[in-house]
Amino acid sequence: MRRPIALITGANGEIGHGLLEHLKKMQNTDVVALDLNPIDEALRPLCFSWTTGDILDEELMGRLVSEYEIHAIYHLAALLSTRSEYTPEKAHNVNVNGTLRLIHMAQEQARWHGHPVRFLFPSSIAAYGLPSLAAKREAGRVKESEWNDPTTMYGVNKLACEHLGRYYTFHYRQLARTDERSGVDFRAIRFPGLISALTMPTGGTSDFAPEMIHAAARGEPYACFVAESARIPFMAMPDAVKALIHLAEAPAEQLSQRVYNIGAFAPSAGEIRDCVLSAFPQAQITFEPDPPRAKIIDTWPEDVDDSPARKDWGWSPDYDLDRAFNEYLVPTIRNYYEQQSHS
Ligand code: SER
Repeated sequence: MRRPIALITGANGEIGHGLLEHLKKMQNTDVVALDLNPIDEALRPLCFSWTTGDILDEELMGRLVSEYEIHAIYHLAALLSTRSEYTPEKAHNVNVNGTLRLIHMAQEQARWHGHPVRFLFPSSIAAYGLPSLAAKREAGRVKESEWNDPTTMYGVNKLACEHLGRYYTFHYRQLARTDERSGVDFRAIRFPGLISALTMPTGGTSDFAPEMIHAAARGEPYACFVAESARIPFMAMPDAVKALIHLAEAPAEQLSQRVYNIGAFAPSAGEIRDCVLSAFPQAQITFEPDPPRAKIIDTWPEDVDDSPARKDWGWSPDYDLDRAFNEYLVPTIRNYYEQQSHS
């Protein structure tokens, strides 16, 4: 008998850290963690097992399915938006072909063990593309179906994967004589910029917020690469993890769509600076916009309409901007850097 597990790809990343802790607490799921780099020591006790490798490595994928029965996949591995602009073809390969490989694995697993495989996918506000700042201001809180014209490779990849997930869930091999479903139960969240107290993102464009906060906590100056007035939605990491778990647990018949916006707070870069300064009054923060990166932020919406998530699976964030700073980011980051300085 192969052991039933949930697979987490990109487990070393920002979301992976929080998700592994949460799944461990729930105690009803054995998790196998996969990442390009060896899984962080701190995460290992949270996993049933872990493995190092590339989601595009066929041999590795073959080994996984020969050892385990996969019932859920949290596919977190991806190249983020800034990084993807330097190597767009590689980004497409990892972000789209890698996702297709895993969706296909989910389909094969469902056929083997006869249960649907839940496939949780972190999509992004990068799936939107507003053509100008004026359009962005006028659009305000965008719905999932609006402004789906991303300008970044990463956004294009996310949108493509959303469609692949919808195809496998509802239309897979629609010309076959049997009307068997694929067994893939794909669910995606379009995350806003995420801010974690414990990890730093690498290669994202929304990174200016976490970078500003972590630089202040380390006592380092920070030059922000977007203008003070730049505004996109953000979320504290515990809410992002909570959303993934709630969407994973929602009964399929409650889902009126498979891709959901979720929102929490939508500050300007200047408002984030103000919060950082009230927590760390010595912080040195300047605004020195890097026009190409700032332009990407200008194509992402000011905020999102998350009413379908609220209605279908009870989404509601625990952290607004003040609470995120005062009860999560500042105390956790302080503690983190204090411990680092003592070790
Ligand atoms: N945080 C991501 C990025 O900046 C967007 O989802 O690439």
